[in-house]
Amino acid sequence: MNYIGSKYKLSDFIKSTIYSMVGNDLSDKVFCDLFAGTGIVGRNFKKEVQQVISNDFEYYSFVLNKNYIGNHLEINDKQTLIDELNNLPLIENGFIFQNYCLGSGSNRQYFSDENGKKIDTIRTKIQEWKQANSINESQYYFLLASLLESADKVANTASVYGAFLKHLKKSAQKEFILENADFEINDNEHQVFNQNSNELIQHIQGDILYLDPPYNARQYGSNYHMLNTIAKYEQFEPKGKTGLPTYQKSKYCSKNFVLNEFENLIKNAEFEYIFLSYNNEGLMSVNDVKNVMSKYGNYYLEKTDYQRFKSDKTESRNHRANKTEEYLHILQKL
Ligand SMILES: C[S@@+](CC[C@H](N)C(=O)[O-])C[C@H]1O[C@@H](n2cnc3c(N)ncnc32)[C@H](O)[C@@H]1O
Repeated sequence: MNYIGSKYKLSDFIKSTIYSMVGNDLSDKVFCDLFAGTGIVGRNFKKEVQQVISNDFEYYSFVLNKNYIGNHLEINDKQTLIDELNNLPLIENGFIFQNYCLGSGSNRQYFSDENGKKIDTIRTKIQEWKQANSINESQYYFLLASLLESADKVANTASVYGAFLKHLKKSAQKEFILENADFEINDNEHQVFNQNSNELIQHIQGDILYLDPPYNARQYGSNYHMLNTIAKYEQFEPKGKTGLPTYQKSKYCSKNFVLNEFENLIKNAEFEYIFLSYNNEGLMSVNDVKNVMSKYGNYYLEKTDYQRFKSDKTESRNHRANKTEEYLHILQKL
């Protein structure tokens, strides 16, 4: 998934920095990814550590992480379930088609009509199976995560869901196919939460805390509202041109609140090592972060050049060029 702030391309930098600070054997460590997003950082450590604790306060992210992190044993009947979902007769009265596709008269076009109907059909069947207890929790989150990932591939947007495109772009014209959201098999059990970081931090402890909060004012709840709508599948009245639901706001996206929120988090964290990803264009300056972290132990800084987030190729041409400095602020808490 092309996700704002994804650390997919920074995985090597993050991993090697963590290993060089903490040591090469992490097999008895508890690793927490507190702002997990797509879950890619926790996924990189799932097989290396004793336990991953994964958290994000957006529900779609919780679903992805329940699958990619929480699921760790083989899923029964995986391919049979996926095949059955791909071959159902389509329903016409589902929430996505009715509210987010042109053919229903909604005036919105986040998906082609056929794909909107297929998303509704599959989402409805997954819920029926859950209600009837014919699938277990692991299967439920595996199927939901598969649906979110596959729907994102055919969305008619410039990658985030703040607006849809006027004409169906090429990838949105493709037929929606439900594809497996595969996860790593691994003996250890992991924990996945859907909470505000500053709440959860008061109830967990471990060895390595990885922090990747939003860097700027872009709220994930509005930019990825469609994924929440598909994941929750609750009725509401979509408003305005984009059909945005009411969404929760993060204090990490607010210049007024971010520093205080960040300091509380660091103060309350019961972890020996804390790593914060941030860049040189974020709401907190390098010195802001350094001043807070230095109060609580030994502080170090690592950095690397990085390509700025782009929504899609067309839009990227209009973007300011291009490199930012990506930091890992490191605290060994005393
Ligand atoms: C920069 S993204 C994380 C990206 C992630 N590391 C990845 O590679 O996919 C920031 C994440 O923080 C989450 N978030 C924002 N405020 C939060 C809060 N107060 N508590 C928990 N999660 C929060 C957002 O939903 C978003 O997924």
